Amino acid sequence: MHIRKAVITAAGWGTRFLPATKSQPKEMLPLLGKPIIQYSVEEAVACGVELVVIVTALGKRSMEDHFDRAFELEHFLEQHGKGKLAEEIRRVSNMVDICYVRQKEQLGLGHAVLTAKNVVGSEPFILFLPDDIFPDGATTLKKMMDICARYESSVLAVKEVPEEVVDRYGVIKPRKVEPRLYQAMELVEKPDREEAPSRLAIMGRYVLTPDIFRALELTRPGRGQEIQLTDGLQRLAHERTVYAYEFEGERYDAGTLKTWLETTIALALRDPELGPGLREYLGKLL
Ligand code: G1P
Repeated sequence: MHIRKAVITAAGWGTRFLPATKSQPKEMLPLLGKPIIQYSVEEAVACGVELVVIVTALGKRSMEDHFDRAFELEHFLEQHGKGKLAEEIRRVSNMVDICYVRQKEQLGLGHAVLTAKNVVGSEPFILFLPDDIFPDGATTLKKMMDICARYESSVLAVKEVPEEVVDRYGVIKPRKVEPRLYQAMELVEKPDREEAPSRLAIMGRYVLTPDIFRALELTRPGRGQEIQLTDGLQRLAHERTVYAYEFEGERYDAGTLKTWLETTIALALRDPELGPGLREYLGKLL
C-alpha cells in the first residue's frame, strides 16, 4: 500500500532537557551531525511519503528554517570551495514537501495528532514520535504498511522491554495472530508495573487509519491529565482490530538527557568515520 502522508509530532516543551531547550526546540538538538527531527523526515522519505506534516508550537520556528532553502549560506559555501556542504544543505531543503500545523495548547500527544486531522484527511498515515530513533526504521515501517494494507487496520510498533521500565510506555495486552504480529486487545498508557498487561511496549512508529481522529475526539484526558494517543487507540480497538508488530532491530530513545547521550554514543560507535576513534577514546577514559 502506498501511504502518502506522515505526521511528526514536535510540539512538546522539551521539559526533560531544560534549560538546554529554553529557547530551542528539543527536536533541533543534534544527534551526531543532524538534528533529531531530521531522522524522522528522512525515514518518511525512505518510505515513499510525499507530504510530511509537522505538528509544531510557539517558539519552535527553527525547525521550519532548517528544512527551508538557505540561499545566502549555500552561496557562501560555494564561494569558499565548500560545494559538497552546499549540496548537503540544499538536499535537506529539497527532500520532501513539509507543512506545519500548530498545537496551540499542550494538551497531550493524542491532541497533537488531532491537530493534523484536516491536513491528513481520510487516508491512512504514518505517525512518527521523533524522540524514538530507529536505525532501520524504513524496513520496519514497510512491514507495518503491508500489514495495514492486508488487514485495513492500524498497526503499532512494539518491543519487549524489561519489567522495570514498563511504566514509561504505552503497553498492550497481546493476542498472537502470527509470528511477530499481535492483536492489541487492550492498550494502557504508562501502567503501574504490577498492572501492566504485558511487557510489549509501544514504540514511536504507527501506521494509522483515519478513524483514529474520531476516536481521539471522543477521548477524555487520561494519564497526566493529557489526551493520550494510547487511550484513543484503546477506544478504536473496541470498534475494530488494532494490530501490533514486534519489530526486529534497534530503537533508541533521544528523549531524555541520559538516553540522548546513550543514543549519541551508540550511533557514533556504528558510524564508520566516528566509530573507531570514539572506541579508542572511550577505552582511554574507562
Ligand atoms: C509516548 C507515548 C507512549 C509510547 C512512547 C514511546 O510517551 O505516549 O505510549 O510508548 O511515547 O516512546 P512519551 O515518551 O512521550 O512519554
